[in-house]
Amino acid sequence: MKVVVPLETKEREKRVALTPDVVKTLVQKGFEVAIEKSAGLKAYVADEVYKEAGASIVESKQDLYANADVVLKVNPPEPSEVSLMKKDAVLLSFMWAATNPELVQACAEQGISAFSVDAIPRISRAQKMDALSSQSNLAGYKTVIMAADALGKIFPLLMTAAGTLKPAKVVIMGAGVAGLQAIATAKRLGAVVEVSDIRPETKEQVESLGGKFITIEGDESIKTGGGYVKEVSEEFLKKQQALIQKHVAQADIVITTALIPGKKAPVLITDEMVKSMKMGSVIVDMAVEQGGNCTLSELNKTVVKEGVTIIGESNLPSLLPMNASELYAKNISTFLLHLADKDGFKWEMEEEITKGSLIVHKGEKLIG
Ligand code: NAI
Repeated sequence: MKVVVPLETKEREKRVALTPDVVKTLVQKGFEVAIEKSAGLKAYVADEVYKEAGASIVESKQDLYANADVVLKVNPPEPSEVSLMKKDAVLLSFMWAATNPELVQACAEQGISAFSVDAIPRISRAQKMDALSSQSNLAGYKTVIMAADALGKIFPLLMTAAGTLKPAKVVIMGAGVAGLQAIATAKRLGAVVEVSDIRPETKEQVESLGGKFITIEGDESIKTGGGYVKEVSEEFLKKQQALIQKHVAQADIVITTALIPGKKAPVLITDEMVKSMKMGSVIVDMAVEQGGNCTLSELNKTVVKEGVTIIGESNLPSLLPMNASELYAKNISTFLLHLADKDGFKWEMEEEITKGSLIVHKGEKLIG
């Protein structure tokens, strides 16, 4: 089986799907590995290092795809990339299939099979393959570092001869994987951290990291399942905004991470709330690509509005391309080795991980 790794074409993307250590493991297991020229450069991996690990380097994208049995990618491929794949080839990548019907259609028309890493069920057995978690974890860390850098203050309490500096106050909305890492990072830097989530089970997790939980009574409009919020009404969001208003107004930093899979992100911070914040405070809207938790954030921009710096970076893991690629490569190679060996794919269609993540099978769409 020939496994290939293309150079990621998405703007602002620095990650690469395989790192040299993982290439070595796959080669030892009998796979052939080919890497597109310069695919690892933005993650600081030179072609030479891939070669030493046992991969071949291919100059042209066309040649790379034409000879691939398996394509490993980070971002969903462009239609032009899918059209280069040979019939019966297999794609493993983030696909976001529920909101990306054109990609699913293109894969089906090309006669390939496609597994989506974002659809791998979050069961203990699949933890090593969980790229959503590995990337969110890093994003949660980076978001705090960016906010700290943009804030004209330090985080910890500091007693000096010239006076005492109060610790910074960080409010984090959403305590999923990214939110929990943001809490841990902000605490390590010495901030006072307040956190809110509408899944009540997060209270204990927040408190175990030293965060103060802002309890918001839910209502019957909140639908949860599998650890996710699935639905929430506009009326509830209005109530929630009113309840968190005073916490936001007193914050130095607000980090929002609230997502509802497959839907637009809930609005938590309105124009009015930004206006109520102290001059010089900072918001990082981690949900900006899904429409934003803050009404004033702008995709891939840092803007200053009402004296508040609002950061809307959409691809935080890519800002840590070395760690993010290292963990993603482990995730995706474990996934591949679960599904296949050097002689081909097992196609165990009723197996839970296969069933959850297989989006197109030999040209047949399994969703939508
Ligand atoms: P996510 O990225 O989909 O959402 C982030 C957070 O936003 C969630 O905690 C959600 O409850 C919260 N949220 C949604 N609407 C909100 C609102 N209006 N106000 C405040 N917060 C709001 O979540 P993520 O990080 O992908 O985690 C989802 C679940 O998956 C969690 O329950 C987590 O524990 C679970 N998980 C399980 C794993 C396993 O068992 N292998 C591995 C990783 C995560």
